[in-house]
Amino acid sequence: MTFESQIAAALPLPVMVVDGDLRLQFANPAAEQFFGRGAALLQGRSLLDFVAPDGPLAALIAQARSRGASVTERGLDLSGPRLGERVADATATALAGNTQVLVTLQECTRAQRMERQLLPRDAVRSMHGMASVLAHEIKNPLAAIRGAAQLLEDQTDDKGLPQLICAETDRIRALIDSMESFGDAEAVGQGAVNIHEVLGRVRALAETGFAGPAEFRENFDPSLPAVAGDFGRLVQVFLNLVSNASDALPAQGGVIVLSTRYRQGLRVGSASSGARVTLPIEVAVQDNGAGIAPALLPQIFDPFVTTKASGKGLGLALVAKIVGDHAGIVECDSVPGRTTFRVLLPMAEERS
Ligand SMILES: Nc1ncnc2c1ncn2[C@@H]1O[C@H](COP(=O)(O)OP(=O)(O)OP(=O)(O)O)[C@@H](O)[C@H]1O
Ligand SMILES: [Mg+2]
Repeated sequence: MTFESQIAAALPLPVMVVDGDLRLQFANPAAEQFFGRGAALLQGRSLLDFVAPDGPLAALIAQARSRGASVTERGLDLSGPRLGERVADATATALAGNTQVLVTLQECTRAQRMERQLLPRDAVRSMHGMASVLAHEIKNPLAAIRGAAQLLEDQTDDKGLPQLICAETDRIRALIDSMESFGDAEAVGQGAVNIHEVLGRVRALAETGFAGPAEFRENFDPSLPAVAGDFGRLVQVFLNLVSNASDALPAQGGVIVLSTRYRQGLRVGSASSGARVTLPIEVAVQDNGAGIAPALLPQIFDPFVTTKASGKGLGLALVAKIVGDHAGIVECDSVPGRTTFRVLLPMAEERS
């Protein structure tokens, strides 16, 4: 065995090479396991015996070949009669000459898949139903209660209790108003937004407002293309992420890093249309705070999940909702001392 084939054999990920007709020229043991066939049975066999010809893996390979480059796509649904229910991240890389393509897969467990994308969306959906029911069923009687309390206030000498009722009804009303921003998926503005201007605005707001002595660092890709979206709503997204980061910082030496970069060829299924969109713009907000407990991590995008005494737990649910309206995705990695929220967004030209 050559050194190269020893490496390929040792890799835990399925690795294969297909030719111009999608016939398997090479498959490592992890790939044999993935397909449930031994090397002898796989050699020379068409990949199309396992996956649909019009499916996402075949499309990814065609794309790598036509671009002559490496293309990664997450959460590909490879389910079919031969493979059963399978979902994987896949990278296809055109080899010299652009005929042969190297394909690597990383299978996602159901749980990972849900955590990555579906959970925030489901949370947002349940949020929407709840918001409209609450708005409808509570706001009207609340206005009546407030009106009655005001009448009482005029008629009694002890103003304290009626005032308390007014203040509390106002608080409930404000909470409902903030939930109403979770209404139906709205078409976001199709403008071309300079994400660095968004981050500049967020930083200015944070520095004059809540962020206290935190140090900001910027790690920007100056050649980044414009994002397709809505300036004001993207400010809302990053303001919430920066606000959470600043809440998490240690009393001294707190650092928030804002970074942007261009990522070639990452595609995911769009929440709204189901079509696949390219999300080449990555914007990250990182802090050096204590981090998020692993048990809490899968739930942070759910509404009303908070560890803060005065938190509403709506910040990240709103982030997930707005990013979803932009057809983007948001992910979080957290270890003590380093928490990163990554937002992946489409670029402006692609939308039009
Ligand atoms: N950068 C971070 N570091 C540590 N924990 C975080 C971070 N971001 C979010 N969290 C955790 O996720 C929880 C949910 O955040 P979210 O923004 O949704 O609500 P919140 O900040 O508690 O309240 P609010 O509605 O005021 O934003 C937080 O209470 C916190 O425990
Ligand atoms: Mg928050």
